[in-house]
Amino acid sequence: MRILITGGAGCLGSNLIEHFLPKGHEILVLDNFATGNREVVPNGIKGLSVVEGSVTDEALVEKCFADFKPTHVIHSAAAYKDPDNWQEDASSNVIGSIIVARAAEKANVKRLVNFQTALCYGRPDIVPIPESAPTRPFTSYGISKTAGEQFMMMGSVPTVSLRLANITGPRLSIGPIPTFYTRIKQGKGCFCSDTKRDFLDMEDFLDVMDIVLQEDAPTGIYNISTGEGKSIKDVFDAVANYLEIDAGDVPIVPPGDDDVPAVVLDPSKTKTDFGWQSKISFKDTIERMLQWYDAHGISAIHSHLKAPK
Ligand SMILES: NC(=O)c1ccc[n+]([C@@H]2O[C@H](COP(=O)([O-])OP(=O)(O)OC[C@H]3O[C@@H](n4cnc5c(N)ncnc54)[C@H](O)[C@@H]3O)[C@@H](O)[C@H]2O)c1
Repeated sequence: MRILITGGAGCLGSNLIEHFLPKGHEILVLDNFATGNREVVPNGIKGLSVVEGSVTDEALVEKCFADFKPTHVIHSAAAYKDPDNWQEDASSNVIGSIIVARAAEKANVKRLVNFQTALCYGRPDIVPIPESAPTRPFTSYGISKTAGEQFMMMGSVPTVSLRLANITGPRLSIGPIPTFYTRIKQGKGCFCSDTKRDFLDMEDFLDVMDIVLQEDAPTGIYNISTGEGKSIKDVFDAVANYLEIDAGDVPIVPPGDDDVPAVVLDPSKTKTDFGWQSKISFKDTIERMLQWYDAHGISAIHSHLKAPK
């Protein structure tokens, strides 16, 4: 495959590079490094090219398609780092997605894979959330990603949009796991929002990516998750336990205005259509993540949630 990965210098993108490059596929990364990391896409790696720029730059995107001639596109670029910067979110996540979808159509790409946030479901009526649940996003990130997904699904290229649980693996720099790991180690206080999330190991995610990129695989919208909800307190306990630190009682606080009490996705349709289901347990997922932090450290921690008042 010749795979164009937008946002390839990010967490998921860089894991996809490490997964697909050794298998002999050619990869082009287009990234503006808003939250991505230059070190994960160094020059001089055989089979990997990198273009610095934005998916909102139509001429640049078209040039990437014309020069690289991708057979497959993975659209991983997304803006989220400032919840108040609606324009940036709309520009990257809506206009950028339209530009990528249109360029993919023009280039007759065989397959387009989009990554979607579970926040597209807003505050759901049913948990675990099936793909048939209405989309009701209420944050800048969620709203812009939802519009972006809708435009992507309108294109003529066979497209799969994966609505992702919290993918946990190398370079994860968002959410409770890196936060607790850092703060507990430093002896700093923590709090747990009274929420539940669904944590999927990177290895399980990469397994499903192998399947969805196949040309005869189904298209459409799919949840990619374990289907198992774990509380933020479960994560806190798992991290403290791993670090063998008695972190004491931790306050449990109500979810912030822009947070959702339970984001747990129902993966039944994915299991039926793709024959895929997660294999790695919650305990192993957290431990594998923490072993990675022990070996590599954590650089910056991002969030698409506003800080609690
Ligand atoms: N990691 C998860 O658990 C998870 C869950 C749900 C959805 N997603 C989605 O998966 C995708 C990747 O997420 P991630 O966790 O790797 O995040 P990330 O921040 O590590 O990666 C996003 C990448 O996109 C780049 N980017 C941002 N705006 C851009 C622009 N305008 N043009 C080009 N590049 C741009 C960033 O620099 C970064 O490298 C995103 O679309 C995100 O919404 C991820």
